[in-house]
Amino acid sequence: MFEQILQASSYLQSRFKDPIHAGIILGSGLGNLASEIQIEITIPYSEIPNFPISTVAGHKGQLIYGTLGSKKVLAMQGRFHYYEGYTMQQVTFPVRVMKALGIKNLIISNAAGGMHQDFEIGELMVIRDHINLFPENPLHGKNDVKLGVRFPDMSATYHQPWIDKAFEIAKKNGIQLSKGVYAGVSGPTLETPAEYKMLKIIGADAVGMSTVPEVIVAIHSGLKVFAISIITDLGVEGKIVKVTHEDVVRVAAAQEPKMTLIIKELIDVI
Ligand code: HPA
Repeated sequence: MFEQILQASSYLQSRFKDPIHAGIILGSGLGNLASEIQIEITIPYSEIPNFPISTVAGHKGQLIYGTLGSKKVLAMQGRFHYYEGYTMQQVTFPVRVMKALGIKNLIISNAAGGMHQDFEIGELMVIRDHINLFPENPLHGKNDVKLGVRFPDMSATYHQPWIDKAFEIAKKNGIQLSKGVYAGVSGPTLETPAEYKMLKIIGADAVGMSTVPEVIVAIHSGLKVFAISIITDLGVEGKIVKVTHEDVVRVAAAQEPKMTLIIKELIDVI
């Protein structure tokens, strides 16, 4: 895998002029942050050696290199989900490539279901911790010490100073922001009411089908991580209604400007 990562990163490196301050992974319905980037280069995933290609509606499948606020960023417009049939190594490959490009900071967004009693649809939740419920860990198998240690510490996975910063930014801009625990599940089914209840009982405030594998590999790679969810539907007893992927994308897109503002200001100060 090391060779494949280097092939991808060398190809990309040859197209980028300046060092990249932060990597960004944009979730379902959240690709419009890209319109805030002063774009220098757009690279479809299909052009990058060894990169998987994304298949879900609402996910574009390209890397964007440019300036957000005052910083150079590399944004993934469209990510790879385990439920699409990718291996965990494919799902997390872009994070490995970001590390190989010298990126040290990773910002992740996603759409999620909310289990917390007080959550409303459209709520923004900073992830302070996660529960990995995927059937597989992306680090399963032989460990390559060139990529990271065998047993990564996960006691402070989400960088606390950035969480604090995000709350300062939200307060300054009058944005309601929550924080909580994200449970990562394989999908593609949404949860049954009993599953939402179980997730709440085990300590999760939100649930989604992404982020956790990427974060595990980011930590393995020594990256600092900030992640934020938009709560697109509620898994709260009595408030559970039928949800479609279109609903998820629509709610995420409607709330995106607030999330974009937080990410943009955060990247400026980190
Ligand atoms: N469950 C899992 N993933 C999701 C949900 C949900 O309710 N909403 C958006 N992504």
